[in-house]
Amino acid sequence: MVERVEAVRFEGGKLVLLDQTLLPGEKRFLHLDDVADVFEAIRMLRVRGAPAIGGAAAYGLYLGVNEVPDDAGTEAFMAKLQEVRDYLASSRPTAVNLFWALDRLVAVAERERASDVPTLKARLLEEAHAIKREDEAMCRAIGQHALTLLGGVESVLTHCNAGSLATMGIGTALAPIYLAAEGGRQIHVFSDETRPLLQGARITTWELGQAGLPVTLIADGMAASVMRQGRVQAVIVGTDRVAANGDVANKIGTYGVAILAHEHGIPFYVAAPSSTIDFATPDGDAIEIELRDPDELRRLGERQTAPAGVEVYNPAFDVTPARLVSAIVTEKGVVKPPFERNLRKVVLGE
Ligand code: MRU
Repeated sequence: MVERVEAVRFEGGKLVLLDQTLLPGEKRFLHLDDVADVFEAIRMLRVRGAPAIGGAAAYGLYLGVNEVPDDAGTEAFMAKLQEVRDYLASSRPTAVNLFWALDRLVAVAERERASDVPTLKARLLEEAHAIKREDEAMCRAIGQHALTLLGGVESVLTHCNAGSLATMGIGTALAPIYLAAEGGRQIHVFSDETRPLLQGARITTWELGQAGLPVTLIADGMAASVMRQGRVQAVIVGTDRVAANGDVANKIGTYGVAILAHEHGIPFYVAAPSSTIDFATPDGDAIEIELRDPDELRRLGERQTAPAGVEVYNPAFDVTPARLVSAIVTEKGVVKPPFERNLRKVVLGE
């Protein structure tokens, strides 16, 4: 098994998060027991990547209601649960795993509202642990299905980070890379640096390096040349939300990569646990795209790289239309177009 650093864990009554804003310079863990700190960690991308955000939010919701006195009564507990749920749900809008995880905990409490407060608290913590365990298994299953698409592939290109640090397992897009390595096969990864927050440069290259796996960093603008030169035979990325028609929201720049892959006849694969597939969202136009602080573009760390007051447009994600997606790899199997029908068939068993 390849060694991995855990992005999200629960230990000693605290949520332990690797502070990903400090990578690659520093490996520091935050030990949180205050829901406001969990909110801040999600908002500031200390924990990031759709499944990891969901896991952190689930533990955050437990921590938020753990403050309710044991003798407060179920009504007061449920009111606080809803309040903390709404608060955490406002931390970031695009990754559907955030809402999925929060609502899963709320549903457990609603089902068991006849129980006393200590029992409800224990059940919520148990459910958060279940989300983490399931995510770990989903990552491995995605990796196995993705490998069936990567026969003969020597190198892949990825964008952003959909590896172990974005999940609670071995990642989604990077899962086949880890599984191949476990089986003695090396698949080389070209990692886009992923402007403006550099998840590719800072996080993907770091985590693959920690695991001893080969990775080459490129600037975002180099992907076209890398494809034209035949250096990659497939693209594989993660996603924050897949709409019912197969449109895919992922880190800004992904759409451009998909167009480039199409132009060069290279398959474009999206790895997605079923917790990221949102059948309630009909298409990409209905996905809320997070707009972030303009200073993320005006500055590079401490350094000013654009005039202080320059107008900025800084969407954190874009939508790749389903027609550019060759396959969506879920833990339940590989989904090929037409996605409108096949997502339901593979994921919901309809
Ligand atoms: O803003 P981030 O770093 O949270 O964006 C992360 C991504 O875009 C990932 O590709 C996505 O969440 C999938 S993670 C398995």
